[in-house]
Amino acid sequence: MKNTWLRKLLLSCLISSTFLTPALAEKSIKLANALSKESHYGVAATALEESLKQALPEKFKVEHFANSALGGEREVIEGVQLGTIDAAILSTGAVLNFVPQVGVLDIPFLFKDLAHARSILDGKIGQQMLEEFPKRNIIALAWGDQGFRHITNNKLVIKTPTDTKSLKIRTTENPVHIMAFKHLGILATPMAWPEVQPALQQGTVDGQENPISVIASMKLNQVQKHLALTGHVYSPALVIFSPSFYNSLTSAEKNTLKIASQDAAKAMRKFVDEIEQSGIASLKEAGMIVTEDVDKQAFANIVKEIYPEYYKRYSKDLIEQIVAQ
Ligand code: PAF
Repeated sequence: MKNTWLRKLLLSCLISSTFLTPALAEKSIKLANALSKESHYGVAATALEESLKQALPEKFKVEHFANSALGGEREVIEGVQLGTIDAAILSTGAVLNFVPQVGVLDIPFLFKDLAHARSILDGKIGQQMLEEFPKRNIIALAWGDQGFRHITNNKLVIKTPTDTKSLKIRTTENPVHIMAFKHLGILATPMAWPEVQPALQQGTVDGQENPISVIASMKLNQVQKHLALTGHVYSPALVIFSPSFYNSLTSAEKNTLKIASQDAAKAMRKFVDEIEQSGIASLKEAGMIVTEDVDKQAFANIVKEIYPEYYKRYSKDLIEQIVAQ
């Protein structure tokens, strides 16, 4: 008698958890990014969520951690490796410290324009590079980008490399970038992104470098007076996942995640294309002094002097293949 009663109770619990509360079946995805909801990363994060929702309603629940809520990009990559963070949208700023091969894409003055860079990332070289990530305990499913990086500062108008000498500029924690800045005579100061705005405000550094997408969406005009369109290096971005999350999925779910990551990357690139058009005018309106006639060739000529160092690190063949495409 007692047994029958207990069995009925267990059965009804099982039925209600299976049929009446589908929300319990949702897999939560803790998704980190360094920027605001209104940025290219924010737009990409929303596109990822929407794409998953459309393909597999109620399967995934995306929890958004924007504005570096889970730490700087280096910490986020470590969290993804450990599985304490399920996913992230981030720049390659710190990535080469984990997947060294990616550093070749961070070489200044390597790409002619966005179309050139994107054709490399979407082609054999970029896709093969994504396959290197699992060896470092990271799953990388799609390449997005931020645009080309430009220098902002609070001290002076930059037109030639001489103007940048002795400026203290925050850089990402990226040895490939740092080598080039040092060669230009810049006091390169690597710093995690969450520390950058206070450092600019307090004058600990004179400036920083980032694409228009970041400068405009993070309103860096509030802490920086000058913007010089140096376009010195392309800034790729990635959609990554932790192996512990990824490997818990069925192969059909993995496929859906790949498509959602590609949708996120597409949304990111679209945002970048639009803000590259409109961002400079709005930064000028907001009071920034924008220098458009930068002698980019003079900067490139100096940086090209250290290309032999890059050849040693990444193979001359590969670099020449990228340049020639
Ligand atoms: O400068 C950086 O660290 C990156 O470009 C940023 C702003 C965190 C976006 O990935």
